[in-house]
Amino acid sequence: MKSERVIIGPKDRVFVLTGAGISAESGIPTFRGVGGVWNNYRIEEVANPAAWERDPELVWRFYSYRRRTAAPCEPNAGHRALAELEGLIGERFFLCTQNVDDLHERAGSRRLVHMHGELFRSRCERCEREPWGDRGEYDSMNAIPRCECGGRVRPHICWFGEVPFGMDRIAEELERCAVFGVIGTSGVVYPAAGFVHAVNARGRGKVRTFYVGPEEPENAGEFGQVFVGKAGEVVPVLFRSSE
Ligand code: OAD
Repeated sequence: MKSERVIIGPKDRVFVLTGAGISAESGIPTFRGVGGVWNNYRIEEVANPAAWERDPELVWRFYSYRRRTAAPCEPNAGHRALAELEGLIGERFFLCTQNVDDLHERAGSRRLVHMHGELFRSRCERCEREPWGDRGEYDSMNAIPRCECGGRVRPHICWFGEVPFGMDRIAEELERCAVFGVIGTSGVVYPAAGFVHAVNARGRGKVRTFYVGPEEPENAGEFGQVFVGKAGEVVPVLFRSSE
C-alpha cells in the first residue's frame, strides 16, 4: 500500500517511535553516518556500565559535551507536528523516543516516554532519590559530582546493556495501537528496532505501519508506507484524519 498520507480513523490509537533523525534538523548530530557521534567516540568507552566503572570522568566529559551541544537547539517542524497531532487526538496518541534531548517536550508533547533516558537529568547510583533536572557540565574538574548521600551522580541515560525505561507502558501501547510509525532511526538498536516486528506479529494488516527518513531503512519491507524525506518536511503534512 503506497499513499501520500497516513490516515487516522476516529478510534485509531497512534504509536510513534522517533530516533536521532527527528532532531537532526535542530542541529543535534545523529549517532551513525556522516557527522555521527559514534564517528568521534567509541560506544564502549562512554556508553556502558563498564566504561563508567573504568573512567567516570571520561563518561561525564562525553555527556557534558552532549549537554553543551543540545542546550541551544530548538524544536523543529517535525517535533511540533507530533505535538499538534497529540493535541488533536489526545490520549489516543503515544510517543516513544530513543532521543535523550528534550525537544519533543519543548514542542509540547506530553504523552511520551524517553526509553533511553534524558540528557538533562542525573541520578544517584546509590540511593533511591528520583532523577532530577541537571544542566551541569562536569568536564573541567577531576571529581565527579556527588549526591547528598555521598553516592556518585551519573547521567540519567540507558547505557548499552541496561534495561530501557518505560518498557511496560511501551509494550501495552504496542499491543493496542492501530497505527505505528517510525521517524528518523536507523533501526539497528534493540529493543526499539524490534517494535515493528511486534506490531506486525499481531496479524497481517491489523496495524498500519509507516517510516519517515531521508533513506529507505534496511527493513523497508516491514512497513506499509515509506516516506523518503526529512522529518521537518514530511511530518507536518503526513497525517490526515478520516473523521
Ligand atoms: P542513528 O544515528 O543510528 O540513525 C539516525 C537515522 O536518522 C538514520 O536512519 C538517518 O537516515 C535518519 N535521519 C537523518 N536525518 C534525518 C532527518 N532530517 N529526518 C528524518 N530522519 C533523518 O540514530 P538512532 O537510530 O536514533 O542509544 O540511534 C539509536 C540509538 O543508538 C540511540 O538512541 C543511541 C545510539 O547509540 C544509546 O545511546 C543507548
